[in-house]
Amino acid sequence: MKISATLLSISTVLCGVFALPPKIRSPVGTQWSVYNHTEGCSPAACEYGFNIAWGSSPTDEPAFSTYCQGSDIAYKLQPCQDPAISSNEVSGFQNVTVVVQHFFETSDGAGHYVVGNYTFEDVDGNYPSAFGIQQSEVRAVA
Ligand SMILES: *[C@@H]1O[C@H](CO)[C@@H](O)[C@H](O)[C@H]1NC(C)=O
Ligand SMILES: *[C@@H]1O[C@H](CO)[C@@H](O)[C@H](O)[C@H]1NC(C)=O
Ligand SMILES: *[C@@H]1O[C@H](CO)[C@@H](O)[C@H](O)[C@H]1NC(C)=O
Repeated sequence: MKISATLLSISTVLCGVFALPPKIRSPVGTQWSVYNHTEGCSPAACEYGFNIAWGSSPTDEPAFSTYCQGSDIAYKLQPCQDPAISSNEVSGFQNVTVVVQHFFETSDGAGHYVVGNYTFEDVDGNYPSAFGIQQSEVRAVA
């Protein structure tokens, strides 16, 4: 009992020192707009492309508008025309997940990664041409 109480207070102190939470107006819960989404699949791989935009908002994430393209066999985030944005597609069983990451700096010089994803059903080659991607997580740069 004594030990766990001590460990608890140590970890509380460590968190206080090393994990200062970023003080930003977080975009988590808002949505990026994807449109002109295309998907072209061969037996080897699927190539995708889409426009993605984010307007001004009451968060600290700056506006952007760019075009992303890539392949579902890159297995990593691929930079969009605006390299602050990167994307990937993960093909599952009758579904496809579009993953997007946005890197930005706030005026205090701190860097932030925002990530989000959207999954659609992929049956008979039908896919949506426009959708929103919910921003689900912000990570500060260590
Ligand atoms: C992309 O979408 C916009 C709005 O839906 C449309 O006006 C535009 O023509 C599309 N561009 C291409 C290259 O398909
Ligand atoms: C997509 O399909 C995979 C199986 O390939 C499954 O594990 C995953 O849960 C599915 N994702 C969603 C969001 O349905
Ligand atoms: C999609 O977002 C959810 C919620 O944040 C997360 O749990 C999941 O791992 C993400 N999927 C991919 C393929 O990144």
